[in-house]
Amino acid sequence: MADLDDIKDGKDFGLDKPADRQGFYLKGLAHYDWGLKNRMGRIFNPKTGRTVMLAFDHGYFQGPTTGLERVDLTILPLAEYADVLMCTRGVLRAQIPPTVTKPVVLRCSGGNSILSELSNETIAVDIEDAIRLGACAMAAQVYIGAEYEHKSITNVIKLIDTGMRYGIPTLAVTGVGKDMARDARYFGLATRIAAEIGSHYIKSYFIEDGFEKVVAACPVPIVIAGGKKLPELEALEMAYKAVDQGAAGVDMGRNIFQSDDPVAMIQAVGKVVHELEKPEKAFQMYNDLKSAS
Ligand code: R5P
Repeated sequence: MADLDDIKDGKDFGLDKPADRQGFYLKGLAHYDWGLKNRMGRIFNPKTGRTVMLAFDHGYFQGPTTGLERVDLTILPLAEYADVLMCTRGVLRAQIPPTVTKPVVLRCSGGNSILSELSNETIAVDIEDAIRLGACAMAAQVYIGAEYEHKSITNVIKLIDTGMRYGIPTLAVTGVGKDMARDARYFGLATRIAAEIGSHYIKSYFIEDGFEKVVAACPVPIVIAGGKKLPELEALEMAYKAVDQGAAGVDMGRNIFQSDDPVAMIQAVGKVVHELEKPEKAFQMYNDLKSAS
């Protein structure tokens, strides 16, 4: 029964404090619904606004590349240090135990291989399966300027529209066609197109000249891919420069799982991304962890 005899009148209406009219810590996402924000909040640490996504989806077009021959042996030990796991549904079901509760960004494009035209992708996961797997976001490549540019953009648009029905965000991954220049003009174009069609965040590459402008002109968060394997210090320098110039973290694969010590490397990357640790210090941390293991 309701206690109608003890209703206390409100006292503090905070009349001197205007209500927060933006209400979200991630760029460009203030006006989405609760579920989508909650999923983004599981991907991006709300304290730092950044993320370390561990990407191991490469097999979907590259096969068993170095470091991913046995995901159960090489990637599982890294999961506890990652903020997010990015992989295909095949590897997720086959090799990641459901007791691993890290957020999953699901690779949802495919249908190509290194033996054919990379930009010729299709949507490779139905929204129902993404929901069934508890995906925090869906990811697909946009290949601006490539042979199947239009098809790849259409894939991302379809993912966005289906994901929006259920509050699942979409990550657009800027795939670089073989003949494209990796410069600020190209990434500015690709990331902006991806944002304009409604992608909730975008994976791009770091570039030495003009990265800050690419980030500034993109209305939603950008994370950087690691790209091909670099010496550890160089990879940490790249991550540092990217976050220092506005990236909201990394979606890194080879520079972690192909490292001499992947467990040490992912922790060093995390220190750079979340604490803006200087690369030299993070490299020292990497070496200390490596020699202790
Ligand atoms: C490649 O197509 C995948 O999307 C990878 O997830 C992405 O390239 C990040 O991996 P890496 O750091 O090895 O470049």
